[in-house]
Amino acid sequence: MTRPFLVFGRSGQVARELAEEAQALKVEVVFAGRERLDLSDPAGLDEGVAAVIAETAPSAVINAAALTSVDGAEAEQARARVMNRDAPAAMARACARRGIPIVQLSTDYVFDGLKGSPYVETDATGAVNAYGRSKLEGEQAIAASGARHGILRVSWVFGPHGSNFARRMIELAATRGVLEVVDDLVGRPTSGQDVARAALEVGRRLAAGEQAVEGVLHACGPDDATWADLACAVLLQSRKLGGPWAEVRPIPSSARPTPAKRPPDTRLDIGKARSAFGYDPLPWRDAVATRITRV
Ligand SMILES: NC(=O)c1ccc[n+]([C@@H]2O[C@H](COP(=O)([O-])OP(=O)(O)OC[C@H]3O[C@@H](n4cnc5c(N)ncnc54)[C@H](OP(=O)(O)O)[C@@H]3O)[C@@H](O)[C@H]2O)c1
Repeated sequence: MTRPFLVFGRSGQVARELAEEAQALKVEVVFAGRERLDLSDPAGLDEGVAAVIAETAPSAVINAAALTSVDGAEAEQARARVMNRDAPAAMARACARRGIPIVQLSTDYVFDGLKGSPYVETDATGAVNAYGRSKLEGEQAIAASGARHGILRVSWVFGPHGSNFARRMIELAATRGVLEVVDDLVGRPTSGQDVARAALEVGRRLAAGEQAVEGVLHACGPDDATWADLACAVLLQSRKLGGPWAEVRPIPSSARPTPAKRPPDTRLDIGKARSAFGYDPLPWRDAVATRITRV
């Protein structure tokens, strides 16, 4: 009998993409959302996580749960550390005890964004905000746990589900004629569907004992954008579908101070993931066209 995957997270955008992909691939997945276990509560975290893993006896764990609000993490740093460091650490320790591999989702925000060219996995990290630091500490805790693991750093995730930048732009355009969007931060937008496919594939390969997918892998989209570029494409797609449209006015990030500092250029190089497991993500403009199909 094949054992299911266990996903921490249920209604988040990547968790929902995982549900769709698993169904398409006929892969059995058990989801544990916050109604099953509150991962922000440090009391009994180790026991709680271990119990969920023991109950499911999965072939691999995928952690799609996190505190993902970058500005929220600045205000709630202790909570961010519990969700983004302590919870994955507890999962990895439980996995290590049972010989189960774990796939962790991490972020381009582990970098300071000052390199000036795409980051590779061996580049020095240097998070500039509380969210990035908590995710980096999560990576380090997993690496120290003894569990076989794959850490997928993804970036600027968007798609049809949950709360993400593309959906926020469409919602704002419903009530405003002009949206001011920063155009001096560069990254590589990633389709949530590609994140889900990568996580399932890395989980499958880890469970099969493959070593090429162990460690850190960069798994973002293949091409560059600013937030203003992404907003323009999303709103044109919305208009094509008969939804709201607004003019995008590019502004510098200095004109929009935020609680959390943002790294200016977090493009990730995906060459290692391409050769390790055939990662082949959609260019972000194609992902806008094929994934944003309802407004
Ligand atoms: N979104 C991005 O642009 C982006 C960029 C880089 C990296 N990532 C990483 O990708 C992963 C998935 O992100 P996402 O975009 O899917 O995030 P999301 O939409 O904000 O979903 C967050 C998930 O975390 C779970 N969660 C939140 N608080 C919880 C709690 N107290 N107890 C238990 N579970 C809790 C939610 O559970 P429920 O299902 O129960 O609500 C949900 O499934 C995260 O590791 C994130 O750091 C995301």
